[in-house]
Amino acid sequence: MKYKGIIFDLDGVICHTDKYHYQAWKKLADKLGIYFDQEINNRLRGVSRMESFDIILEKYHGQMSQEDKVRYAAEKNDLYRELLKNMTTDDLDPQVKETLDTLRSRGLLLAIGSSSKNAGFILERLGLDGYFDAVSDGNNISRSKPDPEVFLKAAEYLDLQPQDCLVVEDAQSGLEAAIAGNMDCAAIGDAVKCNKANYNLETFSDLLLAVGS
Ligand code: BG6
Ligand code: MG
Repeated sequence: MKYKGIIFDLDGVICHTDKYHYQAWKKLADKLGIYFDQEINNRLRGVSRMESFDIILEKYHGQMSQEDKVRYAAEKNDLYRELLKNMTTDDLDPQVKETLDTLRSRGLLLAIGSSSKNAGFILERLGLDGYFDAVSDGNNISRSKPDPEVFLKAAEYLDLQPQDCLVVEDAQSGLEAAIAGNMDCAAIGDAVKCNKANYNLETFSDLLLAVGS
């Protein structure tokens, strides 16, 4: 087998939380009188909460103190968490679950490598609490993607060398993080356009072809 472990980004790979991030940021942006649209939302993919807010504030006319930034980002997160409560196990695509189960039956270790501090809560909503062999997320890192820290930690938790892991990502910053961490990567969704990955997946189950049996 080419790999011993697979590290999955969460938002945009295992599930689709984009619309909830958008709704929560939009509500805050409207309140603050900041222009915000889907295109700007796409730039937030893979980026930490505070760095996302900095991108949104590019359209803010004025200065905001660090204290206010932290307060507003927390407010966005409260809105986002409320929206996440709409997620159920029905939001887990059966193709995703079947593919994960097949990879596991082939002896691969499976981990999450996500910038989100809500990863645990999302996995719970999807019925995947405790499913992965390791979870590395926004709570255990100090540097966000494209820094490789989140993936290197995931490999460490799996007790694997980076070069034995494949990363699956939907964001350019995530592909860059994998490459910086000396890991192969597979792109799905928007990340395919970057032309940086070892594999481009049209659909999640294409991963089975990429890793071989
Ligand atoms: C990433 C998302 O997974 O997590 C980003 O792609 C988001 O859009 C980041 O900003 C941080 O998420 P959270 O849940 O900690 O606010
Ligand atoms: Mg993502």
